[in-house]
Amino acid sequence: MEPEQLEKANTQDRTIPDALNTDALGAWRRTHHLNALRAGDTGKEVVLMGWVQRRRDHGGVIFVDLRDREGITQVVFNPDVDAAVHEKAHALRSEYVIAVRGRVDRRPDGMTNPTLETGEIEVLVFELRILSRASAPPFLIEDDLDVSEMIRLKHRHIDLRRPRLQRNLLSRHRAAAAVRSFLNQNGFLDIETPFLTRSTPEGARDYIVPSRVNPGQFYALPQSPQLFKQLLMISGFDRYYQIVRCFRDEDLRADRQPEFTQIDMEMSFVGEEDIMDVSERMLSEMFRALRGEPLSLPLPRISYAEAIDRFGLDRPDTRFGLELEEVTDLLLDSDFKTFSSVARGGGIVKALNAKGCGGFSRKDIDDLAEFVKIYKAKGLAWVKVKETEWQSPIAKYFSEAEKDRLARRLDMAPGDLVFFMADDSVIVNESLGNLRNLLGKKLKLIDDTRFQFLWITHFPLLEYDDMEKRFKALHHPFTAPLETDIPFLETDPVRVRSRAYDLVLNGYEIGGGSIRNHQRQLQEKIFQVLGLSPEAREEKFGFLLSALDAGAPPHGGIAFGFDRLVMLLCREASIRDVIAFPKTQKAACLMTNAPSEAGKEQLDELHLKIKKT
Ligand code: AMO
Ligand code: AMP
Repeated sequence: MEPEQLEKANTQDRTIPDALNTDALGAWRRTHHLNALRAGDTGKEVVLMGWVQRRRDHGGVIFVDLRDREGITQVVFNPDVDAAVHEKAHALRSEYVIAVRGRVDRRPDGMTNPTLETGEIEVLVFELRILSRASAPPFLIEDDLDVSEMIRLKHRHIDLRRPRLQRNLLSRHRAAAAVRSFLNQNGFLDIETPFLTRSTPEGARDYIVPSRVNPGQFYALPQSPQLFKQLLMISGFDRYYQIVRCFRDEDLRADRQPEFTQIDMEMSFVGEEDIMDVSERMLSEMFRALRGEPLSLPLPRISYAEAIDRFGLDRPDTRFGLELEEVTDLLLDSDFKTFSSVARGGGIVKALNAKGCGGFSRKDIDDLAEFVKIYKAKGLAWVKVKETEWQSPIAKYFSEAEKDRLARRLDMAPGDLVFFMADDSVIVNESLGNLRNLLGKKLKLIDDTRFQFLWITHFPLLEYDDMEKRFKALHHPFTAPLETDIPFLETDPVRVRSRAYDLVLNGYEIGGGSIRNHQRQLQEKIFQVLGLSPEAREEKFGFLLSALDAGAPPHGGIAFGFDRLVMLLCREASIRDVIAFPKTQKAACLMTNAPSEAGKEQLDELHLKIKKT
């Protein structure tokens, strides 16, 4: 039935539904879930309960697909079995909740349904209870629906009935259970940390909560439990974990929610190797639980510098090639001034050989040139390699010798399309790195069935923020520098590499962590380079600094984005599809209409006044 017809049908009957407790206690106890019965159960008397997925009237016999979390069982109302019950079954509509008592019967030959696990049987009903009527659902409870996500999120309780979301949340539960089991067995203690707290800098804005009893003062919801887990190490707990909600006010994307879940871990007396090793074994257990096979360990690793050099991004998708190649050194004396001036002026020139793409049209290429503008690219030069010549707006600038050198470096062969970009290194890498991802998808170079992990190590400790004219921590300010690079803190801070590592899966950053500064002196030094005055250090992080004075073990840890991991494991494109009650792009919950205005009384109590704009 179409939803409009359902609407009409479902609103007709307004009598009070049946209750389960009208019978003697226990008489209506459910005996099986709806994916339990098989041919071997033929003849058994059973009590089933669930939702009406579909009702079909076949010449006097009514068939109902009864659904619960586990599956579907067909129940049959036949006037020859019980005329009154059959009559009552006429009232059944989609999403009604019912209880039936009946007998398991083998389906007649030719009537079995191989797409259902219960498809060999049906249940002949001789008693029916209607436990709940349902108004017509706003959309059908089926996968592959053509319904906007807005409508799905508004009616999330119904959306969550769809098999795909049921499967996803089941996988999420199994993943969490596997993680807990592994960490419990490996000496980690699950310890809760506060939500009403001070700011924990992870690079986003804070969600803040006004304090009623402290007028004008605010808590911040944690961006992560970072400082608390470090304090737990200082307190001697040795190994900590928590599957924990974090709150970050930042621009949202398909893989970002304002509240999301981390698998958060911290360990004492360890180095990078220990943390990476335990993380890998934990993820392997999670994969075993969900996909039936463990990961092949150890996972591959490359340095940040190598990732940027080869792929342009610090979270490369390594399921396909199309690597970038630097050609700055070959273009210092080029007649194409755009290239030579950048090459001589401290910028870089890089190229990407889209093998075999010589057939791209001008429009195809123009679209790609438009795409890289998102990343502030000023242009995208290109060369189509023909049998005997280059076809390109810039071909005329190159001597045969230059072409030869470029062709060799870039492995250029007839039929190839090669892109070039000259600019400062950040723009070139971001533009070509994202262009590479786009081409990987467009050219269908990506094997969707693969899970390609990659550790990225030795991130820079700091980056220079041109707008704010100061250094910022790339990871967070508690990350330790590589011992060998500590002297550069004084002379050339952006040169300092850190003891931070990220784990990337199929081009997504799924986790990140570091070895921390466990000595006060070094932590103070880093705060100083970050531009924090002694007073600001004391005001913001005094509790951490004095804890570091109280005997701190060397320690480090990592946090995994649990939603992202489950999303990838479930082959979903958005973390919203693996979160029961997610928020929209505008951080709203369409079901509860949060956020919403607070009443005057409440604002007064909190000593807050809303400024009208
Ligand atoms: P980081 O900030 O890298 O590290 O966060 C860890 C992981 O959390 C996931 N993640 C998110 N997932 C969904 N929505 C978001 N808005 C979001 N933001 C981050 C990512 C990321 O890799 N305290 C440190 C960890 C540590 O040093 O131990 C931290 O929070 O997958
Ligand atoms: P122009 O000489 O400005 O017409 O540019 C010739 C070609 O070079 C065009 O295809 C531009 O897109 C490209 N181009 C311009 N600036 C750059 C740059 N910084 N890097 C790469 N290509 C560029």
